[in-house]
Amino acid sequence: MRISVIGAGYVGLVTGACLAKLGNKVLLIDINEGTVQAINNGICPVYEEGLAELLRQVKVEASSDYRRIIESELILICVGTISSKDGAISVGQVEEAAKQIAEVLKEKEDYCVICVKSTVTPGTTEEVVIPILEKSGRRIGTDFGVCLNPEFLSEAKAVRDFLNPARVIIGEYDERSGDMLLNLHKNLDVPVLRTDLRIAEMIKLASNAFLATKISFINEIGNICKQLGIDVYEVAKGMGLDERIGSKFLNAGIGFGGSCLPKDLRGLCARAREIGYEPKLLQEVLNLNDEQASKLIELLKKHITLKQATVGILGLAFKPETDDVRDSRATKIVKTLLEEGAIVKAYDPMAVENFRKLFPRIDYVPKEEVLNCHAILILTECQEFNDLDYKGKIVIDGRRIEKAREAQIYEGICW
Ligand code: UGA
Repeated sequence: MRISVIGAGYVGLVTGACLAKLGNKVLLIDINEGTVQAINNGICPVYEEGLAELLRQVKVEASSDYRRIIESELILICVGTISSKDGAISVGQVEEAAKQIAEVLKEKEDYCVICVKSTVTPGTTEEVVIPILEKSGRRIGTDFGVCLNPEFLSEAKAVRDFLNPARVIIGEYDERSGDMLLNLHKNLDVPVLRTDLRIAEMIKLASNAFLATKISFINEIGNICKQLGIDVYEVAKGMGLDERIGSKFLNAGIGFGGSCLPKDLRGLCARAREIGYEPKLLQEVLNLNDEQASKLIELLKKHITLKQATVGILGLAFKPETDDVRDSRATKIVKTLLEEGAIVKAYDPMAVENFRKLFPRIDYVPKEEVLNCHAILILTECQEFNDLDYKGKIVIDGRRIEKAREAQIYEGICW
């Protein structure tokens, strides 16, 4: 199939490269000339496990010229969405992409399907995207179709997730639109749910909200367990044996970050409020997540005075094996430490350059040097943190690194 992918960020690139691997002819469109050039020169502009290799294997072309999508049978919108001030998901880039596509539709003679993969709140495809596309003068259902196909890619495992998905959700304007998407996934052995556009939009948001809830839930159980002297990891193991609960996303700790879970949850809460519903549970999931970061600082203060103390940070990314620092736990914690007068020395195997853009003035040091600080905070569960010698140190652990327990003073955030 001839496919154009709009937006060569992390989702667009992974999607484009994987679809090329599945035998499609893929054109990536991005307004950033640097990104376009990098891709055309065989350089992968983002870090994602296995992606650079895949881009070298497959043939994917990039361009900043929207007119080139005119040959496409399928156009995937993979641009980013962000949180606006009130938490609502802002879809400016999706609107802009739809406008550019509408310009091309005016000239396009054959039928094509436009599919939104960006995460949007329920109703956006029908109320925002379709009206823009219809301004082209072409008729939906006859000249073009529309789908909403949410992505369920976890960073650091995105290529694997794309090629071995747990499920494919096809939100379709009509059967003809959905058939095109179904055809795209025909070589993957995967359960498919075909549904309408708004349900598909909600499945994505509700899935991320559920994962976030599971994390805040186990963190709250952990906070109670810590007071009672019970090991929450053993509790989670026992709970996870029940298939209805499942063992994944029950790792208690310092909470969730990243560009998806917090943004999508805030977006769902904002949408609920717009329609007059107060999302009490979901808001509390966010509150608990915020408090979990503050809790780590409180535990630290039990052991040292922050003013003038050196505090070592292990883990700056929002999770291991990525260089992504968006909404990472470290951003919040480092900010508080600096406000309280501490001197921060930080290490991450991949994310230092991105973190430096946010905090240019803290010290970035090798991991061994972090150990020389007055106290050490562990903020991601990087495997290599299990190889350090913590003897004689003060460690406050937000992620359950077993080796750190040998520290002279060791406290887990909720164990
Ligand atoms: C998340 C979802 O897992 C994907 O399914 C979804 O497609 C993606 O968002 C998206 O909407 O694009 P991602 O943001 O890459 O993926 O990260 P996760 O692996 O979900 O981790 C999110 C955060 O939760 C991390 O900070 C992680 O450390 C934390 N976490 C995860 C916990 O604190 N405990 C756990 O048990 C699991």
